[in-house]
Amino acid sequence: MNRVSVIGAGTMGNGIAQFFAQTGHQVSLVDVSQDALDNALKTIEKNLDRMIKKEKIAEDDKSKTLSNISTDTSVESGAKNAEFVVEAAVEDSNFKLDIFRDLDKTCADEVILASNTSSISITQIGSVTNRPDKVIGMHFMNPVPVMQLVEVIRGYATSDEVTNQVMTLAKELGKTPVEVNDYPGFAANRILMPMINEAIESLYHGVAGVEEIDTVMKLGMAHPMGPLQFADFIGVDVCLSILNVMQNGLGNPKYAPCPLLVNMVTAGHRGVKTGQGFYDYSEGTKNPKIAKQFR
Ligand code: NAI
Repeated sequence: MNRVSVIGAGTMGNGIAQFFAQTGHQVSLVDVSQDALDNALKTIEKNLDRMIKKEKIAEDDKSKTLSNISTDTSVESGAKNAEFVVEAAVEDSNFKLDIFRDLDKTCADEVILASNTSSISITQIGSVTNRPDKVIGMHFMNPVPVMQLVEVIRGYATSDEVTNQVMTLAKELGKTPVEVNDYPGFAANRILMPMINEAIESLYHGVAGVEEIDTVMKLGMAHPMGPLQFADFIGVDVCLSILNVMQNGLGNPKYAPCPLLVNMVTAGHRGVKTGQGFYDYSEGTKNPKIAKQFR
């Protein structure tokens, strides 16, 4: 599989594109927004510069990686020659189902269509295609070039052969895949999101402030990042979408998103990507201030 198409060029899409380009694949990065594509290329370039500075890659690896990436604003042209597809567009099932209908029409019958979804049912995504056996979850973690784990989610109809192929691909490219079954939140978010939601509930009920909650989890539980700052990095809106999927899919009120989380998303405070979340990133992501609302 040399030609890989990545659909969606946001937080995750640019990382996935960089990862496949760095491992020698021809990547066609597709997004409906030209701005998102331009920003993705800038982010990838910045990341590669940082890796050169840290002596993790050589100078000419940067030009090789960048020359492996082309961009497109349409699935029809951008994914038509793909041998493998990873979709990383917005976490909204209506959008995703439409994208998979298009991919199914556009890509050759043997092509595996993977989704980086954090929580949407792989079985449901597969059901709108004529190849549910070849639809699978390939859930990378943020930041993709750095994080070791790939959660490989087999839908109800995903074949053993396709699951094995994706597990092998992830291993060959230097990641550690784990196979999980297709239930809301899969394994990673089934465990992570209730913790993040509880941290937000604790803030909402005045148990402690932003800095205190994050410090408790960093210094007390040895987490590298506190849950509120982690929510900002994931995207506060992405956390809300995942909790909604879990609450609806599992029918248990314990997954109901905190009203504060809902308010933040409604107000457009979506975390690092908008410059505001629990912290204020207007001066960058290093040592951010607590957001005005929580001071
Ligand atoms: P994002 O909001 O940063 O980027 C989404 C991108 O999709 C945007 O650039 C948007 O223009 C594009 N898009 C929307 N409709 C499209 C379409 N029809 N065709 C092509 N592109 C389209 O979202 P993010 O955070 O990158 O998430 C992407 C996926 O990855 C979601 O499914 C999310 O659940 C998942 N994910 C996110 C993680 C995170 O830490 N943010 C971690 C792991 C998975």
